Amino acid sequence: MLPTQLWANTRRSIFTASLPKNHENPLGLPLNNNRVPPQIPRRGPISGGLPAKRKIPNVKHVVLVSSCKGGVGKSTVATNLAVSLSLLPQRLRVGILDLDVFGPSIPTLMGLKNVEEPGLTQAGALIPITNHGIPTMSMAYLLPPASQPSSSPTPNSDSEPPTNEDTPVVWRGLMVQKAVQQLLFQTDWSAAISQNTSPGLDILVIDLPPGTGDIPLSVGQLVDVDSTIIITTPDILSLSDVRRGVAMFRKLEMPLTGLVINNAYFICPNCSERHYLFGGNPNDERNMFAKGVKAMGMGGDKIVGELPLVVDVGRGGEKGVPYALSGRGVLGETDAGKIWQEVMKTIAERIWGELRARTVK
Ligand SMILES: Nc1ncnc2c1ncn2[C@@H]1O[C@H](COP(=O)(O)OP(=O)(O)O)[C@@H](O)[C@H]1O
Ligand SMILES: [Mg+2]
Repeated sequence: MLPTQLWANTRRSIFTASLPKNHENPLGLPLNNNRVPPQIPRRGPISGGLPAKRKIPNVKHVVLVSSCKGGVGKSTVATNLAVSLSLLPQRLRVGILDLDVFGPSIPTLMGLKNVEEPGLTQAGALIPITNHGIPTMSMAYLLPPASQPSSSPTPNSDSEPPTNEDTPVVWRGLMVQKAVQQLLFQTDWSAAISQNTSPGLDILVIDLPPGTGDIPLSVGQLVDVDSTIIITTPDILSLSDVRRGVAMFRKLEMPLTGLVINNAYFICPNCSERHYLFGGNPNDERNMFAKGVKAMGMGGDKIVGELPLVVDVGRGGEKGVPYALSGRGVLGETDAGKIWQEVMKTIAERIWGELRARTVK
């Protein structure tokens, strides 16, 4: 048989072969024809195991910063929010807990890369590590610096040596749960910058990992939370992520303060015009993102702030100096930088307002 004939026969046999009958489920996963989404386990005596929600020792209010997608600026907002809250006239005592166990970045953003392991109190609780007046705790503090991969070519002297943030946490769910519980309840925030009589923090800002996995779920079930914000970029692809986050917080009955739209626009230094880099102006009613957000009840005043993309915000984070601190007249500020500062301050004021309202209730 000629090669061309052989190929024609083979092609025919491939494309005319009868398709498997159950092609809707090619991986043979167990089918659930009712298509009921997995349920969040219930708290209390019915589910028989989970403890009731409780307060974090020495912390008056807990604010969760979450996003359903990585890389949208969650940790950057968390650090700058903590700094901005601490700069309000009330001189609040604010701390940060990094619960992004698999991708901690608070140490870098707060200028605490490769610090010594945290000390322990006599009772065995972790003592937070402070910089810029903000006490912090992160899984990364408990890990050794990552070793240089043995397979790597000769180390490049230009590249930074690995830090403890680079050490992978290769754990299964149960270990992670244990670590999260320890970070939540066995960190001693009592010594935190106590200017008045009561020890501890007014506000603990928690940087959650992206998504709706085990860690946000545990926090939602174990901790008395006062405010949650979801960070997103204003593009259509983020909408379903936001929808999942909103659904999770509603299901866990956690107070959802609203959305922070990060990288909402870029102000060109040459033409001073606002450029909407992701999917157009989120305030335009015809905009798909705006429509989607409104449909899930997160439009209007549920949009807590729209932060512009500012190059120095990213640079500040890399240097370990949050822009909410460094941008205050020390560096030459751009228009976008000033707007970013103002918006960040408004977000801090809004959150403090909500926390006060909950205390008064
Ligand atoms: N408003 C902003 N302007 C400029 N860069 C930003 C802004 N927000 C975040 N970034 C940068 O985007 C990147 C991702 O931010 P990060 O806070 O680490 O995201 P996440 O915690 O969601 O993964 C970082 O390099 C950060 O410096
Ligand atoms: Mg992060």
